[in-house]
Amino acid sequence: EKGTYPHYMLKEIDEQPAVMRKIIQAYQDDKGKLAIDYNITEAMNQADRIYIIAAGTSYHAGLVGKQLIEKMAKIPVEVHIASEFVYNMPLLSENPLFIFISQSGETADSRAVLVAVKELGYKALTITNVAGSTLSREADYTLLLHAGPEIAVASTKAYTAQIAVLAILANVTAKFRNQEVEFDLVQELGIVATAMEALVDSKEQMEEIAREYLSVTRNAFFIGRAMDYFVGIEGALKLKEISYIQAEGFAGGELKHGTIALIEEGTPVFALATQESVNLSIRGNVKEVAARGAHPCIISMKGLQSEEDRFVIPEVHELLTPLVSVIPFQLIAYYAALHRDCDVDKPRNLAKSVTVE
Ligand code: M6R
Repeated sequence: EKGTYPHYMLKEIDEQPAVMRKIIQAYQDDKGKLAIDYNITEAMNQADRIYIIAAGTSYHAGLVGKQLIEKMAKIPVEVHIASEFVYNMPLLSENPLFIFISQSGETADSRAVLVAVKELGYKALTITNVAGSTLSREADYTLLLHAGPEIAVASTKAYTAQIAVLAILANVTAKFRNQEVEFDLVQELGIVATAMEALVDSKEQMEEIAREYLSVTRNAFFIGRAMDYFVGIEGALKLKEISYIQAEGFAGGELKHGTIALIEEGTPVFALATQESVNLSIRGNVKEVAARGAHPCIISMKGLQSEEDRFVIPEVHELLTPLVSVIPFQLIAYYAALHRDCDVDKPRNLAKSVTVE
Protein backbone atom coordinates (compact mmCIF):
# COMPACT_ATOMS: atom_id res chain seq x y z
CA GLU A 1 0.00 0.00 0.00
CA LYS A 2 1.23 3.47 -0.73
CA GLY A 3 -0.25 4.90 2.48
CA THR A 4 0.02 8.67 2.60
CA TYR A 5 2.23 8.83 -0.48
CA PRO A 6 0.72 10.26 -3.66
CA HIS A 7 2.63 7.72 -5.76
CA TYR A 8 4.38 4.40 -5.31
CA MET A 9 7.44 5.83 -7.01
CA LEU A 10 7.96 8.44 -4.30
CA LYS A 11 7.40 5.85 -1.58
CA GLU A 12 9.90 3.50 -3.18
CA ILE A 13 12.50 6.26 -3.53
CA ASP A 14 12.04 6.99 0.17
CA GLU A 15 12.46 3.35 1.12
CA GLN A 16 16.03 3.18 -0.20
CA PRO A 17 17.89 3.91 3.07
CA ALA A 18 15.86 1.21 4.88
CA VAL A 19 16.43 -1.26 2.03
CA MET A 20 20.16 -0.58 2.23
CA ARG A 21 20.16 -1.39 5.95
CA LYS A 22 18.08 -4.51 5.34
CA ILE A 23 20.56 -5.74 2.73
CA ILE A 24 23.55 -5.18 5.03
CA GLN A 25 21.75 -7.22 7.69
CA ALA A 26 20.57 -9.96 5.33
CA TYR A 27 24.07 -10.59 4.01
CA GLN A 28 25.86 -10.65 7.37
CA ASP A 29 26.76 -13.84 9.24
CA ASP A 30 26.40 -14.16 13.02
CA LYS A 31 29.85 -12.60 13.48
CA GLY A 32 28.84 -9.52 11.53
CA LYS A 33 30.91 -10.42 8.46
CA LEU A 34 29.51 -10.23 4.95
CA ALA A 35 28.60 -13.68 3.73
CA ILE A 36 26.90 -15.34 0.77
CA ASP A 37 26.26 -18.98 -0.15
CA TYR A 38 29.60 -20.77 -0.49
CA ASN A 39 28.54 -22.39 -3.77
CA ILE A 40 28.08 -18.97 -5.34
CA THR A 41 31.49 -17.70 -4.26
CA GLU A 42 33.02 -20.93 -5.49
CA ALA A 43 31.30 -20.56 -8.89
CA MET A 44 32.49 -16.94 -9.11
CA ASN A 45 36.03 -18.00 -8.27
CA GLN A 46 36.08 -20.74 -10.88
CA ALA A 47 34.85 -18.50 -13.68
CA ASP A 48 37.45 -17.10 -16.05
CA ARG A 49 34.91 -14.51 -17.20
CA ILE A 50 31.55 -13.35 -15.97
CA TYR A 51 28.70 -12.41 -18.31
CA ILE A 52 26.06 -10.13 -16.84
CA ILE A 53 22.76 -10.24 -18.72
CA ALA A 54 19.89 -7.81 -18.07
CA ALA A 55 17.50 -5.23 -19.53
CA GLY A 56 16.69 -1.58 -18.84
CA THR A 57 17.54 -0.32 -15.38
CA SER A 58 18.85 -3.74 -14.37
CA TYR A 59 21.32 -3.50 -17.28
CA HIS A 60 22.45 -0.13 -15.94
CA ALA A 61 23.02 -1.73 -12.53
CA GLY A 62 25.03 -4.42 -14.32
CA LEU A 63 27.36 -1.78 -15.81
CA VAL A 64 28.16 -0.65 -12.27
CA GLY A 65 28.42 -4.29 -11.16
CA LYS A 66 31.15 -4.91 -13.74
CA GLN A 67 33.27 -2.18 -12.17
CA LEU A 68 32.69 -3.58 -8.69
CA ILE A 69 33.56 -7.17 -9.61
CA GLU A 70 36.58 -6.25 -11.72
CA LYS A 71 37.99 -3.80 -9.19
CA MET A 72 37.42 -5.93 -6.09
CA ALA A 73 37.43 -9.58 -7.21
CA LYS A 74 39.67 -9.09 -10.28
CA ILE A 75 37.57 -11.28 -12.60
CA PRO A 76 36.87 -9.92 -16.10
CA VAL A 77 33.21 -9.08 -16.69
CA GLU A 78 31.13 -8.37 -19.80
CA VAL A 79 27.70 -6.78 -19.54
CA HIS A 80 25.11 -7.50 -22.22
CA ILE A 81 21.61 -6.36 -23.07
CA ALA A 82 19.56 -9.57 -22.98
CA SER A 83 17.66 -8.96 -26.22
CA GLU A 84 20.91 -8.41 -28.10
CA PHE A 85 22.83 -11.29 -26.57
CA VAL A 86 20.20 -13.82 -27.50
CA TYR A 87 20.49 -13.13 -31.23
CA ASN A 88 24.16 -12.24 -31.36
CA MET A 89 26.07 -14.29 -28.86
CA PRO A 90 29.68 -13.19 -28.41
CA LEU A 91 32.58 -15.61 -28.40
CA LEU A 92 32.44 -17.07 -24.89
CA SER A 93 35.36 -17.82 -22.61
CA GLU A 94 36.20 -21.38 -21.54
CA ASN A 95 34.60 -21.24 -18.09
CA PRO A 96 31.96 -18.56 -18.10
CA LEU A 97 29.54 -17.79 -15.28
CA PHE A 98 26.30 -16.02 -16.18
CA ILE A 99 24.70 -13.50 -13.85
CA PHE A 100 21.12 -12.48 -14.61
CA ILE A 101 19.93 -9.27 -12.99
CA SER A 102 16.18 -8.80 -12.93
CA GLN A 103 13.93 -7.06 -10.43
CA SER A 104 10.87 -9.10 -11.45
CA GLY A 105 12.68 -12.28 -12.41
CA GLU A 106 10.19 -12.55 -15.27
CA THR A 107 11.77 -10.57 -18.12
CA ALA A 108 11.34 -12.66 -21.26
CA ASP A 109 14.45 -11.32 -23.00
CA SER A 110 16.62 -12.39 -20.06
CA ARG A 111 14.86 -15.73 -19.78
CA ALA A 112 15.59 -16.49 -23.44
CA VAL A 113 19.31 -16.07 -22.72
CA LEU A 114 19.07 -18.19 -19.58
CA VAL A 115 17.45 -21.03 -21.55
CA ALA A 116 20.13 -20.78 -24.24
CA VAL A 117 23.10 -20.82 -21.85
CA LYS A 118 21.64 -23.64 -19.76
CA GLU A 119 21.37 -25.66 -22.98
CA LEU A 120 25.06 -25.03 -23.52
CA GLY A 121 25.69 -26.43 -20.02
CA TYR A 122 26.79 -23.22 -18.29
CA LYS A 123 26.06 -22.18 -14.70
CA ALA A 124 23.84 -19.21 -13.94
CA LEU A 125 23.16 -16.99 -10.95
CA THR A 126 20.03 -14.82 -10.80
CA ILE A 127 19.93 -11.64 -8.73
CA THR A 128 16.26 -10.81 -8.27
CA ASN A 129 13.74 -9.18 -6.00
CA VAL A 130 11.21 -11.99 -6.35
CA ALA A 131 11.93 -15.33 -4.67
CA GLY A 132 10.53 -18.17 -6.76
CA SER A 133 10.37 -16.08 -9.95
CA THR A 134 11.05 -17.80 -13.27
CA LEU A 135 14.64 -16.59 -13.59
CA SER A 136 15.30 -17.58 -10.02
CA ARG A 137 13.85 -21.09 -10.41
CA GLU A 138 15.65 -21.79 -13.65
CA ALA A 139 19.11 -20.64 -12.55
CA ASP A 140 21.56 -22.68 -10.47
CA TYR A 141 21.87 -20.01 -7.78
CA THR A 142 19.88 -17.02 -6.55
CA LEU A 143 20.66 -13.89 -4.56
CA LEU A 144 17.74 -11.86 -3.29
CA LEU A 145 17.51 -8.07 -3.32
CA HIS A 146 15.37 -7.71 -0.17
CA ALA A 147 13.92 -4.48 -1.57
CA GLY A 148 10.28 -5.39 -0.89
CA PRO A 149 7.66 -5.18 -3.66
CA GLU A 150 8.38 -2.54 -6.30
CA ILE A 151 5.10 -1.38 -7.81
CA ALA A 152 5.92 1.77 -9.80
CA VAL A 153 6.93 1.01 -13.39
CA ALA A 154 10.04 3.17 -12.97
CA SER A 155 12.56 1.10 -11.07
CA THR A 156 14.24 2.93 -8.18
CA LYS A 157 14.89 0.93 -5.01
CA ALA A 158 15.56 -2.22 -7.06
CA TYR A 159 18.42 -0.42 -8.86
CA THR A 160 20.19 0.59 -5.66
CA ALA A 161 19.51 -2.84 -4.13
CA GLN A 162 21.02 -4.53 -7.20
CA ILE A 163 24.18 -2.46 -6.92
CA ALA A 164 24.48 -3.13 -3.18
CA VAL A 165 24.09 -6.89 -3.66
CA LEU A 166 26.62 -6.83 -6.53
CA ALA A 167 29.04 -4.94 -4.26
CA ILE A 168 28.61 -7.60 -1.56
CA LEU A 169 29.07 -10.39 -4.11
CA ALA A 170 32.24 -8.71 -5.42
CA ASN A 171 33.57 -8.12 -1.92
CA VAL A 172 32.96 -11.64 -0.63
CA THR A 173 34.44 -13.10 -3.84
CA ALA A 174 37.48 -10.85 -3.50
CA LYS A 175 38.14 -12.15 0.01
CA PHE A 176 37.64 -15.72 -1.15
CA ARG A 177 40.32 -15.10 -3.79
CA ASN A 178 42.63 -13.38 -1.30
CA GLN A 179 42.39 -10.11 -3.16
CA GLU A 180 43.11 -7.16 -0.98
CA VAL A 181 40.16 -4.81 -0.44
CA GLU A 182 41.29 -1.80 1.49
CA PHE A 183 37.92 -0.76 2.88
CA ASP A 184 35.25 -2.26 5.10
CA LEU A 185 32.15 -2.68 2.94
CA VAL A 186 29.74 -3.05 5.88
CA GLN A 187 30.91 0.28 7.21
CA GLU A 188 30.86 1.93 3.77
CA LEU A 189 27.32 0.71 3.03
CA GLY A 190 26.25 2.11 6.41
CA ILE A 191 27.65 5.49 5.32
CA VAL A 192 25.71 5.10 2.06
CA ALA A 193 22.45 4.47 3.97
CA THR A 194 22.97 7.65 6.01
CA ALA A 195 23.77 9.64 2.86
CA MET A 196 20.62 8.24 1.23
CA GLU A 197 18.57 9.54 4.15
CA ALA A 198 19.86 13.07 3.56
CA LEU A 199 19.16 12.76 -0.16
CA VAL A 200 15.57 11.57 0.11
CA ASP A 201 15.06 14.54 2.42
CA SER A 202 16.16 16.93 -0.35
CA LYS A 203 12.83 16.76 -2.16
CA GLU A 204 12.21 20.50 -2.19
CA GLN A 205 15.54 21.20 -3.85
CA MET A 206 14.95 18.47 -6.44
CA GLU A 207 11.47 19.78 -7.16
CA GLU A 208 12.98 23.22 -7.67
CA ILE A 209 15.61 21.86 -10.09
CA ALA A 210 12.90 19.97 -12.02
CA ARG A 211 10.83 23.15 -12.25
CA GLU A 212 13.74 25.31 -13.35
CA TYR A 213 15.28 22.94 -15.90
CA LEU A 214 12.51 20.67 -17.14
CA SER A 215 9.15 22.47 -17.07
CA VAL A 216 9.12 23.37 -20.75
CA THR A 217 12.07 21.67 -22.42
CA ARG A 218 11.65 18.98 -25.08
CA ASN A 219 14.97 17.32 -24.38
CA ALA A 220 17.69 16.94 -21.77
CA PHE A 221 21.17 15.45 -21.58
CA PHE A 222 23.02 13.64 -18.84
CA ILE A 223 26.79 13.54 -18.90
CA GLY A 224 29.38 11.89 -16.72
CA ARG A 225 32.57 9.90 -16.84
CA ALA A 226 33.38 6.50 -15.34
CA MET A 227 30.74 5.57 -12.71
CA ASP A 228 28.97 8.87 -13.37
CA TYR A 229 28.40 7.92 -17.01
CA PHE A 230 26.50 4.78 -15.98
CA VAL A 231 24.36 6.74 -13.53
CA GLY A 232 23.77 9.35 -16.25
CA ILE A 233 22.22 6.83 -18.62
CA GLU A 234 20.03 5.57 -15.77
CA GLY A 235 19.00 9.16 -14.98
CA ALA A 236 18.10 9.68 -18.64
CA LEU A 237 16.00 6.49 -18.70
CA LYS A 238 14.13 7.54 -15.54
CA LEU A 239 13.36 10.93 -17.03
CA LYS A 240 12.21 9.70 -20.43
CA GLU A 241 10.04 6.85 -19.24
CA ILE A 242 7.93 8.88 -16.83
CA SER A 243 8.06 12.48 -18.13
CA TYR A 244 8.31 11.72 -21.88
CA ILE A 245 11.09 14.28 -22.22
CA GLN A 246 13.61 13.03 -24.75
CA ALA A 247 16.66 12.37 -22.60
CA GLU A 248 20.03 10.84 -23.40
CA GLY A 249 23.02 9.99 -21.28
CA PHE A 250 26.51 10.38 -22.71
CA ALA A 251 30.09 9.82 -21.71
CA GLY A 252 31.53 13.30 -21.19
CA GLY A 253 34.37 12.72 -23.65
CA GLU A 254 32.03 11.59 -26.45
CA LEU A 255 30.19 14.92 -26.66
CA LYS A 256 32.65 16.48 -29.05
CA HIS A 257 32.32 13.46 -31.36
CA GLY A 258 28.81 14.37 -32.38
CA THR A 259 26.28 14.96 -29.64
CA ILE A 260 27.40 18.51 -28.94
CA ALA A 261 25.67 19.46 -32.20
CA LEU A 262 22.35 19.02 -30.39
CA ILE A 263 23.09 21.65 -27.76
CA GLU A 264 21.01 24.79 -28.19
CA GLU A 265 20.30 27.86 -26.10
CA GLY A 266 18.81 26.62 -22.82
CA THR A 267 19.26 22.85 -23.37
CA PRO A 268 19.38 21.27 -19.90
CA VAL A 269 22.58 19.30 -19.29
CA PHE A 270 22.87 17.37 -16.04
CA ALA A 271 26.46 16.59 -15.15
CA LEU A 272 27.60 14.33 -12.33
CA ALA A 273 30.95 14.92 -10.66
CA THR A 274 31.55 12.26 -8.01
CA GLN A 275 34.81 10.77 -9.27
CA GLU A 276 38.05 12.45 -8.31
CA SER A 277 40.04 11.05 -11.25
CA VAL A 278 37.72 12.65 -13.82
CA ASN A 279 36.56 15.70 -11.90
CA LEU A 280 38.53 18.17 -13.99
CA SER A 281 37.68 16.58 -17.31
CA ILE A 282 33.91 16.45 -16.68
CA ARG A 283 34.01 20.08 -15.63
CA GLY A 284 35.80 20.80 -18.92
CA ASN A 285 32.92 19.10 -20.75
CA VAL A 286 30.43 21.27 -18.86
CA LYS A 287 32.30 24.37 -20.03
CA GLU A 288 32.13 23.14 -23.63
CA VAL A 289 28.34 22.80 -23.52
CA ALA A 290 27.84 26.00 -21.52
CA ALA A 291 29.82 27.91 -24.16
CA ARG A 292 27.23 26.71 -26.69
CA GLY A 293 24.30 27.94 -24.65
CA ALA A 294 23.42 24.87 -22.55
CA HIS A 295 21.84 25.26 -19.12
CA PRO A 296 24.12 23.05 -17.00
CA CYS A 297 23.16 21.53 -13.67
CA ILE A 298 26.21 20.08 -11.93
CA ILE A 299 25.61 17.61 -9.13
CA SER A 300 28.88 16.87 -7.37
CA MET A 301 30.08 14.99 -4.33
CA LYS A 302 31.35 16.62 -1.17
CA GLY A 303 35.09 17.09 -1.37
CA LEU A 304 34.98 17.60 -5.15
CA GLN A 305 32.53 20.48 -5.27
CA SER A 306 33.00 23.87 -6.81
CA GLU A 307 31.05 27.12 -6.60
CA GLU A 308 29.13 26.58 -9.81
CA ASP A 309 27.53 23.33 -8.56
CA ARG A 310 23.78 23.18 -8.16
CA PHE A 311 23.69 20.39 -5.60
CA VAL A 312 26.29 18.54 -3.52
CA ILE A 313 25.72 14.96 -2.38
CA PRO A 314 27.29 13.59 0.83
CA GLU A 315 30.62 11.81 0.47
CA VAL A 316 30.68 8.03 0.07
CA HIS A 317 33.35 5.58 -1.14
CA GLU A 318 34.16 6.25 -4.80
CA LEU A 319 33.11 2.73 -5.87
CA LEU A 320 29.70 3.18 -4.25
CA THR A 321 28.72 6.62 -5.58
CA PRO A 322 25.95 5.28 -7.91
CA LEU A 323 24.00 4.22 -4.81
CA VAL A 324 23.61 7.85 -3.85
CA SER A 325 24.11 9.89 -7.02
CA VAL A 326 21.12 8.23 -8.69
CA ILE A 327 18.70 9.56 -6.04
CA PRO A 328 18.71 13.20 -7.22
CA PHE A 329 17.97 11.94 -10.75
CA GLN A 330 15.11 9.74 -9.50
CA LEU A 331 13.57 12.68 -7.68
CA ILE A 332 14.16 15.14 -10.53
CA ALA A 333 12.44 12.70 -12.94
CA TYR A 334 9.57 12.25 -10.49
CA TYR A 335 8.93 15.98 -10.12
CA ALA A 336 9.39 16.65 -13.85
CA ALA A 337 6.69 14.06 -14.56
CA LEU A 338 4.46 15.53 -11.89
CA HIS A 339 4.83 19.08 -13.22
CA ARG A 340 3.93 17.83 -16.68
CA ASP A 341 0.83 16.00 -15.43
CA CYS A 342 2.13 12.60 -16.40
CA ASP A 343 0.93 9.34 -14.88
CA VAL A 344 4.02 8.78 -12.71
CA ASP A 345 3.39 5.19 -11.60
CA LYS A 346 1.95 3.92 -14.87
CA PRO A 347 3.60 5.70 -17.79
CA ARG A 348 2.09 5.21 -21.23
CA ASN A 349 3.08 2.21 -23.34
CA LEU A 350 4.94 0.50 -20.48
CA ALA A 351 4.37 -2.53 -18.24
CA LYS A 352 6.13 -3.29 -14.97
CA SER A 353 7.53 -6.52 -16.22
CA VAL A 354 8.09 -7.21 -19.87
CA THR A 355 7.13 -10.83 -20.36
CA VAL A 356 7.26 -10.87 -24.15
CA GLU A 357 10.41 -10.98 -26.26
O1 M6R B 1 12.29 -6.87 -13.94
P1 M6R B 1 13.53 -6.47 -14.68
O2 M6R B 1 14.57 -5.88 -13.80
O3 M6R B 1 14.11 -7.62 -15.48
O4 M6R B 1 13.09 -5.39 -15.71
C1 M6R B 1 13.97 -4.86 -16.65
C2 M6R B 1 13.43 -3.61 -17.29
O5 M6R B 1 12.23 -3.87 -17.97
C3 M6R B 1 13.19 -2.50 -16.27
O6 M6R B 1 14.34 -2.21 -15.53
C4 M6R B 1 12.70 -1.22 -16.95
O7 M6R B 1 13.73 -0.69 -17.74
C5 M6R B 1 12.20 -0.20 -15.93
N1 M6R B 1 10.91 0.30 -16.31
C6 M6R B 1 13.11 0.97 -15.76
O8 M6R B 1 12.66 1.87 -14.82
